Amino acid sequence: MPIKKIRSFLIAKSYDYAMRSTEKKCLHGWRKELLSQASGDLLEIGAGTGVNLPHYPESVTQIVLSEPDTQMRKRLQRQTVETQINRFHITDWGADSIEMPDASFDTIVSTLVLCSVPSLETSLKEIYRLLRPNGTLLFLEHVISNHPSTLTWQHRIEPYWSFCAGNCHLTRDTAAAIHATGLQIEQLTEAPMTGTPAFVRRTIRGTARKALNSKK
Ligand SMILES: C[S@@+](CC[C@H](N)C(=O)[O-])C[C@H]1O[C@@H](n2cnc3c(N)ncnc32)[C@H](O)[C@@H]1O
Repeated sequence: MPIKKIRSFLIAKSYDYAMRSTEKKCLHGWRKELLSQASGDLLEIGAGTGVNLPHYPESVTQIVLSEPDTQMRKRLQRQTVETQINRFHITDWGADSIEMPDASFDTIVSTLVLCSVPSLETSLKEIYRLLRPNGTLLFLEHVISNHPSTLTWQHRIEPYWSFCAGNCHLTRDTAAAIHATGLQIEQLTEAPMTGTPAFVRRTIRGTARKALNSKK
């Protein structure tokens, strides 16, 4: 079995267990608060094992879940059955190539995904294209440290971490990239992800809106 397949199997199998303590300490509450703002037609990129599904409110009319990893997608499928949501569609699209027309969604969700996409800029351009005018990106991401010694470690560890953890990058300045795409950041909260190593601890979460009068 090629190494990529073994890695993908191991990550998918251990993901919920590995995150259990951090979910309890902070992530669960953050997801609940953030996703309560979702509404209309929604796309979630990198939906993983489906941890966000129980948090989607009734105001969400249709859910497209994109997850390129086969092993993660199997678990996602199971979670949709457990959560008993029936207004969803699962796809294998990567965040940089969502096969939907421009302005298809009112809400796009990215939680702990923009660290792993091959190109942050390309994925954010795709998010911008897919959002309707006045549509919102809801994001929760771990980002580059603002502490010099942690940043040094992030740079050192990044190639190895990225290999072991499904292309997860440690030094992305995701808030700056969202802003550069043309989305207006309306809410931004920074907080440490309790119970994780220092090199993945700094997180941002919030909302970014596409202007109502945007042409594209
Ligand atoms: C750390 S997990 C996060 C899972 C889930 N979103 C969460 O909040 O727990 C990263 C997820 O991003 C997915 N991913 C990796 N590359 C991707 C890409 N290019 N496009 C979309 N998702 C991707 C992985 O398969 C994995 O499910």
